[in-house]
Amino acid sequence: MYLGIDLGTSSVKTVLMDEQQNIVVSHSAPLTVSRLHDGWSEQNPSDWIKAIENTLDAVKHSHAKELAATRGIGLSGHMHGATLIDDQDNVIRPCMLWNDTRSHEQAHRLDTPQSRKIAGNILFPGFTAPKVAWVAEHEPEAFARIAKVLLPKDYARLWLTGEHAADMSDAAGTGWLDVGERCWSTELLSATGLQDSQMPRLVEGTESSGTLRQALATRYGMSPDAIVAGGAGDNAASACGMGTVAAGSAFLSLGTSGVLFAANDSYQPNAESAVHAFCHAIPETWHQMGVILAATDALNWLAQIVNSSPAELAKSVESHAATPIDLIFLPYLGGERTPINDANARGVFVGLKHTTNTADMVRAVMQGVSFAFRDSQLALQSAGTQLTRATAIGGGAKSDYWLQVISNTLCLPLDLPADGDYGASLGAARLGLIAAEKADPLAVCTTPDTRKTIEPDKTHGHFVELHERYRATYQSLAPLMR
Ligand code: XUL
Repeated sequence: MYLGIDLGTSSVKTVLMDEQQNIVVSHSAPLTVSRLHDGWSEQNPSDWIKAIENTLDAVKHSHAKELAATRGIGLSGHMHGATLIDDQDNVIRPCMLWNDTRSHEQAHRLDTPQSRKIAGNILFPGFTAPKVAWVAEHEPEAFARIAKVLLPKDYARLWLTGEHAADMSDAAGTGWLDVGERCWSTELLSATGLQDSQMPRLVEGTESSGTLRQALATRYGMSPDAIVAGGAGDNAASACGMGTVAAGSAFLSLGTSGVLFAANDSYQPNAESAVHAFCHAIPETWHQMGVILAATDALNWLAQIVNSSPAELAKSVESHAATPIDLIFLPYLGGERTPINDANARGVFVGLKHTTNTADMVRAVMQGVSFAFRDSQLALQSAGTQLTRATAIGGGAKSDYWLQVISNTLCLPLDLPADGDYGASLGAARLGLIAAEKADPLAVCTTPDTRKTIEPDKTHGHFVELHERYRATYQSLAPLMR
């Protein structure tokens, strides 16, 4: 048996997978995000551990025997969060998350031709380094106490194993990794006033990072020899779950964030395009991705405003033809990464009328997110990656309407996997299996069968015209948002 634990932004999901890669049981526990100020986004690491404990308690309750047979554990988690730890492994302050854009001034300062050369990426405000630079400036006592900076899932690893370790895919999103060489960069670290000793040990996602602490082994009736794999940032973990490991394969993730992810056969940095070029979870492999900060999060926002739920809103437009709507929405509720790298950008509706109703706004929000995906598609193209199809995953992919709008906008066939669980938690469990059994990653990370494919229809041209208007809207409003 193999456990996959995915620390998502809105929930922890834990799956137990057998030797044939069937999911035996799966449990989730919710998490919330605290937004104290505009552009801020934080979570308390202690809440992650409570949520993980809840899922493990539930697995033990229903499948104690199977849990006891666990040989490998894999971790996945939301990327880039700055989890600051003192020399007693105490958390110093709440974790600033991937969609926290408060450190844009620090990011602007740290982002230099030399940093791009080493890190292969723009130093986005969402990355870990600018956040720590923000802490150094605004909370110097907290900065002085930093013994280690951990990524969110690596804090869960510390709890599981007692080890400070990070895997390459997640480390690539810190702004401190030499992404081509797969090692910490002393030069990038010193730009943030940090040293190599404040970084966790690096392992590949498929390697062992340690074993289960005795106290947890006793509590859950598991073996203390159970191996905890390096694991991966949630996007690389999803790629392992979806089999997006060979060059030419791609997925589109419609989750809290939106991600257009392409596996590459070599390291292909192209910082100017605002495409992320990161290590994959498998040794010697890399990937590129465009990242949208608010995808289903934009629909969540609208649902709150109109006192509904995202699922109800999605249902309300499901029977509508996936045609363009003349109401432009910019989904930049807390800034945006690809392609504009603008922490000051904010959400906008242009074209509201007396007759505009909630369903129109839902369609405009979904269309706005689709335009953001088109921006990422074009950014990937300018970075040398032309997608021919992509597999759709994430909570938003339950809406056929939304997927059809995206497919039409991108003129891209979207494959829906056969029923089952192919997300980051499965990818994490697969990495646990590979590390425990020294298995061949490519043989384990297979692609699920396709249940159906959403093909683009003839409205593509009209969506492309409106996408131009979407871009122009941002260009003309950007100066007003500063
Ligand atoms: C990727 C990113 C998000 C988070 C949250 O760069 O910031 O996709 O990993 O899922």
